[in-house]
Amino acid sequence: MKNKKTLYSFSIVAATLLITLASCNTTPVSAQAKSCKAEVQPVNPPDRPILVGADYYPEHWPEERWETDIKLMKDAGFNVVRLAEFSWIYMEPTEGQYEFDWLDDVLDLLARYDIYAIICTPTAVMPAWLAQKYPDALATKADGTRIVWGGRKNNCFSTGTYRLLSERITRAMAEHFKDNPVVIGWQTDNEFGGTDCRCSICRTEFQDWLRKKYGTLDKLNQAWGNHFWGLEFTTWGEITVPDNRVGRWASSNPSACLDWQRFTSWLNIRFQKDQIDIIREICPHHFVTHNLMPFHKGINYYEFTKDLDFVSFDNYPIWGAKRPKISYRAAAAADFMRGLKQKNFLIMEQTAGPHGWSSLQRNPWPGEIRLFCYQQLAHGADGQIWFRWRTCTAGREQYWHGILGHDGKPLRRYKEAAQVAKEYRKLDEHLKGTTVRSDVAIIYDYDTVWALQIQPGYPANNFEDVMRRYYDALFRAGVNADFIPTCADFSKYKLVLAPDLYVLRDKVANNLNDFVKKGGTLFTDCRVGVKDENNLCHPRTLPGLLSKALGIRIEEYSAVADKVEYKVSGTDGFPGSFTAKHYVDWVTPENASTLARYEGEWHLKPFAALTKNTYGKGKAWYAGTVIKEDAFYDQLIKNLLEDAAIHPLIKPPLGVEVSIRQGNGQKLLFVINHTEEQQTVSVPVGTELLTGKTTDGPITLNTFEVAVIKL
Ligand code: GLA
Ligand code: ZN
Repeated sequence: MKNKKTLYSFSIVAATLLITLASCNTTPVSAQAKSCKAEVQPVNPPDRPILVGADYYPEHWPEERWETDIKLMKDAGFNVVRLAEFSWIYMEPTEGQYEFDWLDDVLDLLARYDIYAIICTPTAVMPAWLAQKYPDALATKADGTRIVWGGRKNNCFSTGTYRLLSERITRAMAEHFKDNPVVIGWQTDNEFGGTDCRCSICRTEFQDWLRKKYGTLDKLNQAWGNHFWGLEFTTWGEITVPDNRVGRWASSNPSACLDWQRFTSWLNIRFQKDQIDIIREICPHHFVTHNLMPFHKGINYYEFTKDLDFVSFDNYPIWGAKRPKISYRAAAAADFMRGLKQKNFLIMEQTAGPHGWSSLQRNPWPGEIRLFCYQQLAHGADGQIWFRWRTCTAGREQYWHGILGHDGKPLRRYKEAAQVAKEYRKLDEHLKGTTVRSDVAIIYDYDTVWALQIQPGYPANNFEDVMRRYYDALFRAGVNADFIPTCADFSKYKLVLAPDLYVLRDKVANNLNDFVKKGGTLFTDCRVGVKDENNLCHPRTLPGLLSKALGIRIEEYSAVADKVEYKVSGTDGFPGSFTAKHYVDWVTPENASTLARYEGEWHLKPFAALTKNTYGKGKAWYAGTVIKEDAFYDQLIKNLLEDAAIHPLIKPPLGVEVSIRQGNGQKLLFVINHTEEQQTVSVPVGTELLTGKTTDGPITLNTFEVAVIKL
């Protein structure tokens, strides 16, 4: 073992210099986004099998236990662990004094059992000495007081002090671990989530960021519409941090709130980039990733992940008793994560048992741990790591269960994990070079997500809920979807869904019109195109520029009170009776035809609930209200798929998921039974890779059973 005890001291001169550099970043915002490195690594290079393992916290257990743990992992077929996530205090017990010998010992043991390690920069929890010595490292709350140290993720992202200390520990770790063959890559920090620090440094940084973005105060005043309420700024220093509380008491300017959201997202990106630059300089052969959270709203993940080699995310599909048993959200999350870099991803934290911080949630039933892994594999996961190895007996996560319980015995959940790890070895060769390819895209746009948080428009409006109405119907139809940003090339898809696309730049509207004109099928719905990129209302009759493709006019609209419902009935080509709620656009079809209309409400009689227009070679659909029944969305997706000439390979029974990975001359069909009942599904000719059986026609899947069929 090299450098058993490393002491790494930083000269005070260098430290001061770095603090100065850290706090006066002058790179313009636009250049920051473009400065990301070229992608260098896939999740698995050709010579490495799919990663399967656990998040391991050896620092929570006596040293004598380590080998038992690692041997158990090896026996289970694990080949990777994630280490050091929250262990800054053990690596730098006092400022500038680094101790890595305990981690070296763990890595030596891992080497003995052929297990790789992903190591984390530990900056999600600052050591107590740091908070004590540098109080400005702690974030400031809206009431002006500092966060009290004692949890995690409590730092300010602007202060040069914290950025410097983060750079120092990152550099010391990178220098120390750069040549250790067990280490294959890095996770930065833990679940960056945005920030709401309101300290004076953050405020000054915000002013600086705005100056770079707008150049002149006139431009900023105009972009934010500061003539309203006479909120014009006359110097940059007057700019305050907006009060971004959501709801009726929010009084800040929505345009200012959107820029604050963009700014705080960027602060996280910059903080991570400081670490990544160091790792890339010292460890060019290591990958760098981060554990993202499904549909988390604090950060623009498209921008954030440009600096990473690949995306990782944390998958906890069991939440609360009321959630549906079919994990649509986890499937959507996977498709979203794959879309961020248009490539496969890693599950960095996978549900391993019951969890909860104060009260327990449901334990995964037999077969369910395995099911969650296959669901992610089916959507493009190229590896998966369970959170956590062993349930900790101490701290806030005592109830967050790992593969092993508190007792450390290899029981049912361990056996299920071992089964998965061993099965993955049967799939390695077939999975290489495969990913999900989809003809359907759903636009996911952060400006829209944020602007809807700032002003939902009608009380129940929330982007994720809206998007899920369509995503879940696609899932039920057995069709995969990609999530894409507004700047994506729409021509790669046959069907583009743009639900609730509230912030609509003219360029994007024109691209969508073009997409339809050239033969694409577009679907969009109420509140589309209300806002421009500054979060100002477009001064146009809705749906603005999209009226070209949609062939409709919306002169008026109305929220619908809670519990009030309107009857809607389908016309020719769109059978069924439905219920409208929450919101109604008073849609007047111009060229479009009406496919569903309101019944019984005299004031809505003239207006259409659902329209379809032919524009150029394509079709554009519009739903002007929120419909209660799934049947509406199932019928809609059926019609849209027909218009787009997309023919699903299989129409699965309810609760059975279908996904296809392809590439490299391979086509793998995943069929997953999320229900507790036996399900029969008719599949094409192929070989089921886990059993080696030939398929041609109906297969039977028991509770939570999966099939991976090579076509
Ligand atoms: C997140 C974190 C983990 C752990 C789990 C459980 O996903 O990344 O460190 O805290 O939640 O709470
Ligand atoms: Zn701050």
